[in-house]
Amino acid sequence: PLTGKRVVVTAGPTREAIDPVRFISNHSSGKMGVAVAAAAWRRGADVELIAGPLLVEPPVGPRVTHVETTAEMADAVRRALGAADALVMAAAPADFTPAHVATSKIKKGATAPTLTLDFTVDILVSTRSARRPGSVIVGFALETNDVLAHARAKLDDKELDLIVVNDATEPGAGFGVDTNRVTLLDR
Ligand code: CTP
Repeated sequence: PLTGKRVVVTAGPTREAIDPVRFISNHSSGKMGVAVAAAAWRRGADVELIAGPLLVEPPVGPRVTHVETTAEMADAVRRALGAADALVMAAAPADFTPAHVATSKIKKGATAPTLTLDFTVDILVSTRSARRPGSVIVGFALETNDVLAHARAKLDDKELDLIVVNDATEPGAGFGVDTNRVTLLDR
């Protein structure tokens, strides 16, 4: 059913360097994005998976573009969107990045360091203009409270066609598990 369609999927976390040996990230495993990419490929789509550091094996079939930071993932998504019929943004990009990256390892001194953080770029928002007219844009929302209200706001703010809502506090849902329970909200 997806023969002739180009599908772009993102997966996994991204990493933002603090110094050459440390980073800020999150608990994303990449399972969801890898599963979606494999499913689209099995249905005949030409699939590009844009992946941060995965805790699972990448899928066989889709082309895999490896990225590290949120800015790198944004660049890869922007490049891929021009030819994409669908984007499934299953990745969990890091939302914060250290304002200054130390060029050498931060040593344990007399006082613990204080990190000043900046926002990273919002990939779905910042790549809106690269979307092909008529393409289908699917986002995810990971929430712990006021789940549907927050998801509806993301559907609007990020100009999505569909949002997949996860409640991270539900047993069997959230990070790194083999099961999930979601609500789909469409535009
Ligand atoms: N997303 C994105 N760029 C980011 C962060 C998230 O494009 N820098 C995408 C995610 O891939 C997901 C959707 O936006 O498809 C919602 O991600 P989520 O983490 O639930 O929301 P945030 O936008 O990060 O907002 P908040 O952390 O405040 O809930």
